[in-house]
Parts: sequence; C-alpha cells; structure tokens
Amino acid sequence: MSSKQEKIGEIIAEHIHREGPLLPILNDIQAELGCVDAETEAQIAEALNLTRADVHGVVSFYHDYKSEADPRPVVQICRAEACKARGVEKLIGDANAAAGERVKIQTVYCLGLCSAGPAARTGDDLHIRLDSQSVTKLIENA
Ligand code: FES
Repeated sequence: MSSKQEKIGEIIAEHIHREGPLLPILNDIQAELGCVDAETEAQIAEALNLTRADVHGVVSFYHDYKSEADPRPVVQICRAEACKARGVEKLIGDANAAAGERVKIQTVYCLGLCSAGPAARTGDDLHIRLDSQSVTKLIENA
C-alpha cells in the first residue's frame, strides 16, 4: 500500500462512522492531497460500500473537488449578486490581468460576506471591500 493510499485510509477511518461520511472524507482528501483522483474515488467507494459512479457523481458535482492537483495558488472571487452590484465584474478583469498564468482565479457564488463585498478568499483567509488596487496586491502575494 502506498503512502497516499495509507493517508486516504486514515482519513476514511476518521469519518467512516459518521452519518453521511462521504463529504467530510472528500473535503479532507481535497485539503490534504489537493485532488480527488480516480484511484482515490475507487478507494473511497470500496470503503463506503458505494459504487465508483456514486462517488464520482458527488466529486464531479462540487467544483471544489479537483481530479488532479493544480500547483498554482488559487484566489476565489465571489461573483454572486451582492458582489456584482458592487462592481465585481470589473474586478475579475483586473484580477485575471494581474494573475496571468501564475495564479488561478476561480469565481465562486457567495462567500457569506455580502454586505462587505466585493469579497475573495485565499486559503482560509477572507478579503472584503476589494478594489482594483487591493485585488492586484492580493494576487501578487498569493
Ligand atoms: S454575494 Fe459576494 S459574498 Fe455574498
């Protein structure tokens, strides 16, 4: 058994007795390994007595789960209504220009900071009231 499979096994063992263990398992694997690939889906399916299609259906439904790791830093920018009303569309253009190929800009729909938008997230950090200058700085530091 590879160290990757062992790590996945540990994560599965941590959650398998919970009610609805699949999402917590997928969240931890995505956070730990940076992706949920086909081999991992198969290991999860076997452990939870699900079909591989069951697991893949969930993985492909949520775009936070990646089938292969992307080594680039990710900046998530909210594109939902409240942030749209505060000018996020222009900000996304500025963000893409600043990011080039080095940083991945990912648009998401609501970070729960609607009254303080435009909002973004990098890792566990949340950023509010962004403007062109602050989003460019955020991307440069990503
Ligand atoms: S609409 Fe952007 S944080 Fe909610």
